[in-house]
Amino acid sequence: MASSTRFVKSFADLLIAWHAKSGRHHLPWQQSKDPYSVWVSEIMLQQTQVATVINYYHRFMKKFPTIKALADADEEEVIQLWSGLGYYRRARFLHEGARMIMEEMEGVFPSHFDMMMKIPGIGRSTAGAISAFSFNQKKAILDGNVKRVLSRYFLVREWTGLPKTEKKLWGYAESLLPDKNIATYTQALMDLGATECSKKPLCETCPLKKTCLAFQKNKVHLVPAPRPHKKIPTETTHMVIIKHHDEVLLIKRPQGGIWGGLWSLPQYEGQSATSKAWIKKHCGLETSLIEKDLKASTTFTHYKLDITYSILEAKSQRAKFPHTWLSINTLEGAAIPAIIRKILLKL
Ligand code: ADE
Repeated sequence: MASSTRFVKSFADLLIAWHAKSGRHHLPWQQSKDPYSVWVSEIMLQQTQVATVINYYHRFMKKFPTIKALADADEEEVIQLWSGLGYYRRARFLHEGARMIMEEMEGVFPSHFDMMMKIPGIGRSTAGAISAFSFNQKKAILDGNVKRVLSRYFLVREWTGLPKTEKKLWGYAESLLPDKNIATYTQALMDLGATECSKKPLCETCPLKKTCLAFQKNKVHLVPAPRPHKKIPTETTHMVIIKHHDEVLLIKRPQGGIWGGLWSLPQYEGQSATSKAWIKKHCGLETSLIEKDLKASTTFTHYKLDITYSILEAKSQRAKFPHTWLSINTLEGAAIPAIIRKILLKL
């Protein structure tokens, strides 16, 4: 008992002492314990690095300073503010979550862990972070960075995405929690994962090196184990870039499914039609072909999408179905999937 207590304490103590000197203390969302701002920042940080998030966070909080302001907004406005941050599902979850809090939780962000987990987009790790940062509750986190830290520290050799491995890592994460200073500890763990214990580790300056099993056994380069190669299917599709001078025609993707609610290019499956004939039939536009059989591809979790696309110049802007024309110069600020932005920026 005495030795294990000492061991557990030493991990948290070392981390907290390291954080005082080398951690991040001035991130905008650290300036308040308000759960709404912590929630917004944690959702933004789920798949995006701190440096990118900072500006988006300021803009978001300025436009939607309260849960009510976010709940009252149109989804379009929220998505628009998210443009360029990617993984737009997160923006929709925040919006839906704000509405849920207003309608079902009396407008107050819940302090109870199980209630937090009912909010769309909040999983166990995000609920842990909000509980620790806003409510000083002794809850664990296990995001990608923390999985890396713990799998090295305890020399876990299996791929961390396996449910069995995750369960083991959650056990470690909980066993290490300190009784005091949970917010600082949580931030310290995140910061260590982003710096000393990043993909390219800096073990020499790491505060945990004396007790890190991977370091002690000279196996840091082997942990975490890479994701086993999984064969995913490839799907194919055709898209058309319809230009009119410096504008391109975009259509809004239906809600749900990939890219739901985002602006994208007209798209069709199969080989049957030429793009010019397809556009005439479905959009009612006369066009002339500029280039065809261009290729792009993108990978989702469950499949790879190979896109063949053509570029055509429209003779007018009178398309006969819901669409918008967007100037190529304003692409950066529009809510468009990353691969579509990439294709359009080549124009
Ligand atoms: N990654 C996820 N949450 C974070 C936070 N609060 N600070 C820094 N990086 C993070």
